[in-house]
Amino acid sequence: MKYPVNLLIGITVLLLGLVINMGAAAQQATVADGVFTEAQVEAGQLVYDGTCKACHNMKFYQDTLKSFNRQPLIYLWETVMGTMPADNPGSLGLSEYTDVIAYILHENGFPTGDTMLDPNNGMDEINIVSP
Ligand code: HEC
Repeated sequence: MKYPVNLLIGITVLLLGLVINMGAAAQQATVADGVFTEAQVEAGQLVYDGTCKACHNMKFYQDTLKSFNRQPLIYLWETVMGTMPADNPGSLGLSEYTDVIAYILHENGFPTGDTMLDPNNGMDEINIVSP
């Protein structure tokens, strides 16, 4: 059985449209979208220098970000909060963990923006991308 060419083209265009639309709907904010502020980066640097610097270098964080590629940022935040600093896990305040994540992202080339990074507000909807 033969279908008219026009019909086949029509169906193809329709299906392509659907696929493109689905892609757009699934798109989330990423750490490249300016999801933390300059003030958080500055506060995070103090935390980092005092609490993290002794055990890791920035290359380590670059590798960590790569291994968390496309995962929600909140996973990294929870991991760091639950396990770091390794000699005293959970010892920092929630905002200190948030600030230090902002600092690490910024050091890996991601930009600051106007919105504060907040683990209770949308951090599960921001995806990590590989630096
Ligand atoms: C006393 C040493 C020490 C300190 C201080 C420390 N870490 Fe770690 N960190 C480790 C060790 C050990 C591991 C696990 C082994 C590894 O992957 O190298 C680790 C792992 C990590 C990971 C990877 C987690 C994963 O599952 O991929 C991150 C991210 C991290 N640390 C961030 C931090 C941050 C942020 C701070 C400061 C708040 C910090 N660390 C302070 C020793 C330390």
